Amino acid sequence: MGYEDMIIRSYNAQKDRARVEDLERRCEVGPAERGFLFTDTLGDPICRIKNSPVYNMLVAELGDQLVGVTQGSIKLVTVHKPPKNLARVGYILGLRVAPLYRRRGIGFRLVIKLEEWFIANGVDYAYMATEKDNEASFKLFVDKLSYVKFRTASILVNPVSRRMLRISSNFEFEKLEVAEAESLYSKFMSSTEFFPNDIGKILRNKLSLGTWVAYPRGESWGATFPSSWAMLSVWNSGELFKLRLGNAPSSCLMYTQSSQLMEKLFPCFKLPAIPDFWQPFGFYFVYGVYREGPLSGKLVRTLCRLVHNMASKSKDCKAVVTEVGGSDALRHHIPHWKFLSCPEDLWCIKALKNEERNSLFEMLKTPPTRTLFVDPREV
Ligand SMILES: CC(C)(COP(=O)(O)OP(=O)(O)OC[C@H]1O[C@@H](n2cnc3c(N)ncnc32)[C@H](O)[C@@H]1OP(=O)(O)O)[C@@H](O)C(=O)NCCC(=O)NCCS
Repeated sequence: MGYEDMIIRSYNAQKDRARVEDLERRCEVGPAERGFLFTDTLGDPICRIKNSPVYNMLVAELGDQLVGVTQGSIKLVTVHKPPKNLARVGYILGLRVAPLYRRRGIGFRLVIKLEEWFIANGVDYAYMATEKDNEASFKLFVDKLSYVKFRTASILVNPVSRRMLRISSNFEFEKLEVAEAESLYSKFMSSTEFFPNDIGKILRNKLSLGTWVAYPRGESWGATFPSSWAMLSVWNSGELFKLRLGNAPSSCLMYTQSSQLMEKLFPCFKLPAIPDFWQPFGFYFVYGVYREGPLSGKLVRTLCRLVHNMASKSKDCKAVVTEVGGSDALRHHIPHWKFLSCPEDLWCIKALKNEERNSLFEMLKTPPTRTLFVDPREV
């Protein structure tokens, strides 16, 4: 059967669920030196997009073989292109082609089909994120599909230890009502690049565990803002899907085993152990981190410890993950392990409407000074 007979169509849960899960299991993502990360979608391959306002999953079929898959979601976000700082964007994720069928144009055709669906739904810009080292993905989007490098983000990963971390008594915390969190985000973060117009829906989603603020003890949270304060929200990604490390370097495996042994034998030394990332695990995603005032870096750090302690009580949450703009000083205040983190996640973008091409050119010229808002629904 020739490739001209390939069919690309929308995902049909009844027909495709098992085959898409099988394809996901066979596709390693990321550079081999760091070990591949596999996603277990717990019997629902569309779970990663189904919390987005508009979404679609496409599959490529060759005879009775499912050879490729991709997903897309659409929403309205802030972008800096006066006079209207809003754009409809389509996010591309989960592109996978079966190993035996690669380099035959299937990935290319899947993305073109998804772009057609974006255009039919009024999307101004399509964008995607890829690790800098994922050559196949970068070349496909940049060389073949005319995407341009737009922003760089850093994915920060902190392992969760079963031991609770000490929380400084110099600070106070408060969990906010959703309405208050929504109004704070609209007031302080709505000009952040990629801030979603439907932030209220994210905060009200059952996967959103809440929004917390921290401020110096002795001050109050109320009519006026404390001299320094910080805020963040937490999303329980592990409810949706699990991750598992495969084919990691043996040095990493040995380090994990020895660190767990050390923690068991010498608990008084408080040595952090790396959790067993080879078994499927869940993670919390921290989003919407905001801070103000001279002590705000410490406040962010303390809030992260609070999240760590929440995670350590949950059964299978083994990591707390955050994504911030590559040049954002916030990353110095967010605890993370360098060798588990990805310092350069490239965001690539393409204008899908003729009139948006000039705006994109202008956007690319402006230095990315502002922070990026990373939507937990797109993790
Ligand atoms: C990335 C991936 C989807 C590409 O699928 P594919 O069907 O093999 O891609 P195509 O055949 O359409 O490739 C089109 C172009 O992309 C580039 N490309 C694709 N694979 C490449 C590779 N391994 N190395 C270098 N360039 C590559 C080439 O420019 C290629 O054009 P060419 O074959 O004329 O040189 C596939 O490799 C894959 O599933 N990888 C694992 C999952 C993954 O990393 N997904 C991306 C997450 S963001």
